[in-house]
Amino acid sequence: MSFPVDTIRKDFPILSETIKGKPLIYLDNAATSQKPLRVINAIKDYYEHTNSNIHRGAHYLANKATEAYENSRKTIATHINARSEREINFVRGTTEAINLVAKTYGRKFIKQGDEIIVTAMEHHSNIVPWQMPCEETGAVLRVIPINDKGELIMEEYLKLLSAKTKLVSLAYVSNSLGTINPVEEIIAQARKFGAKVFIDGAQALPHMRVDVQKLDCDFLGFSGHKVFGPTGIGVLYGKEEILNEMPPFMGGGEMIKTVSFKGTTYNDLPYKFEAGTPHIEGGIVLGESISYINEIGLDKIAAYEHELLVYGTEKLLQIEGLRIIGTADHKSSVISFLINDIHPYDVGILLNEQGIAIRTGHHCCQPLMERLGIEGTCRASFAFYNTKEEIDSLSIALTKAISILA
Ligand code: ALA
Repeated sequence: MSFPVDTIRKDFPILSETIKGKPLIYLDNAATSQKPLRVINAIKDYYEHTNSNIHRGAHYLANKATEAYENSRKTIATHINARSEREINFVRGTTEAINLVAKTYGRKFIKQGDEIIVTAMEHHSNIVPWQMPCEETGAVLRVIPINDKGELIMEEYLKLLSAKTKLVSLAYVSNSLGTINPVEEIIAQARKFGAKVFIDGAQALPHMRVDVQKLDCDFLGFSGHKVFGPTGIGVLYGKEEILNEMPPFMGGGEMIKTVSFKGTTYNDLPYKFEAGTPHIEGGIVLGESISYINEIGLDKIAAYEHELLVYGTEKLLQIEGLRIIGTADHKSSVISFLINDIHPYDVGILLNEQGIAIRTGHHCCQPLMERLGIEGTCRASFAFYNTKEEIDSLSIALTKAISILA
């Protein structure tokens, strides 16, 4: 059965917008995804019928909000196959998830001479938080290099691993190249040296099934806004025994059991890492967006998006002077490209005139761009509501842009 993209598009009101008189063609899904009506309605519904602080009050709304928030945590735990909802910590997004681990696990367990391994294709958010404990402790950041297709060089990874390796942190899927990294193999190899592994799942969760037990990762972070949910909410998954060993991240209400001026005792998981009033509506609605993609079916989404990737790759390569940056054998639905020596920003501006939204620039991956010897790329990133017709329009608009810019 073919993927019901026409029906699915009706779930996303923003896809009916026009930009400069042209139908919106939204191809910037790696930056943020659009929201289905179900998610938009859930936000409104929360404020109309549920709004209250959670875990605190004895009244009806407090209980209703708490139940909805905790049910969402269960939905997310089931979705990524966590052993328990205690392993699901609500955070603001992937960036906060990485920073939380760097500032807690990092501060307690990373010492001078230890090594943290990242990859050459990481987003700044998976580099800078690790540079910080390295600067503080004298630990060393090591980098797995990539080949010219944008794939990790696994032999080099194996050479980097040693008894000094304390943590390996990498993107499951590269935001700028679309490369799907062999994370199972990376984790299995890290295990041999007792190193922990953090998986940045920001670009994976919207496109594929992620099973933390199957992967056996120690940590996983992802962002709500990239999985068709709200901004400002995300998840840090961590193995319960490791989270229990970590000191708290922020101090405040909710993360404590008892407070006195003699000392404070900390709350159990997951509240230990959730100081202060959280993003309640975001947490609740994130569960709604996860349920939405599960009802469509992640396997169907992955298969359809692969079709878009193959179609888009063939179509764009027909354009003279266009070269694709990131040609890994295993790719998610991201096509980064350059056209002759035209600046990506100029391409983006002209596509915008045609109602087409792409991202241009370094995509928060300056070290990757340096490795590739470029300043940035044009990036079209697809979601399951995009169509082959939209890719045709992209191709036509690019040809037009070239005729203006060349
Ligand atoms: N990390 C997001 C992107 O790749 C914002 O566009």
